[in-house]
Amino acid sequence: AISILTIDGPSGTGKGTLMQLLAEQLGWHTLDSGALYRVLGLAATRQGLELDAAEALTLLAAALPLAFNAGRVLLSDEDVSDAIRTEEAGMAASRVAAHPCVRSALLDWQRQFARAPGLVADGRDMGTVVFPHAQLKIFLDASPEIRAERRYKQLKEKGLNANLPQLIADIRERDARDRSRPVAPLCPADDAVCVDSTQMSRAEVLDCVLEEVRR
Ligand code: CDP
Repeated sequence: AISILTIDGPSGTGKGTLMQLLAEQLGWHTLDSGALYRVLGLAATRQGLELDAAEALTLLAAALPLAFNAGRVLLSDEDVSDAIRTEEAGMAASRVAAHPCVRSALLDWQRQFARAPGLVADGRDMGTVVFPHAQLKIFLDASPEIRAERRYKQLKEKGLNANLPQLIADIRERDARDRSRPVAPLCPADDAVCVDSTQMSRAEVLDCVLEEVRR
């Protein structure tokens, strides 16, 4: 039976939505690992740390007062759910996430999320590094243009500023950094099921993954 399902892939492929839908259907727990790096980036920026100061960032990561509560993300007791969703926060996340020692400081914390009856974990290295023994690994991809368009719509819906050409450029930059870093680069696990959602609706992606779960 499956107790850990990982969803990895680049920015804007709909991993987060897919994770939520799967967790609802299956009654499982979730881990939004990207939120972890986003909160770290935010906390570091607020403390005035340089995002390439690996040692200071590792100390901060090891003692990060982060909690998930009823779908909200808390830093100390402050609700930072919206503050971490900006493009700047995504870029800061990608920069702090590039340090190997920062990543290892966050490993145990993430692994504690593996609980009965099951876990859906979303990120870049869930199937390759954090949960290498996961029974089902999905790698979700889509063209950069479609991903930027989806992000554009999301931002507009929230009433936030958005510029499509800038979003495409940001997505390419973040992908390039995530793919080229020395530790836990973004790539499918050897045993991952690759799904390209460029031409698929949310419902189609969900059906396709549920089929894998029931296999
Ligand atoms: O929502 P989106 O896919 O744009 O971003 P996210 O999943 O919240 O991740 C933000 C950044 O955190 C990514 O660009 C990665 O650099 C980093 N990240 C990571 O390195 N490892 C993870 N497991 C999750 C995110």
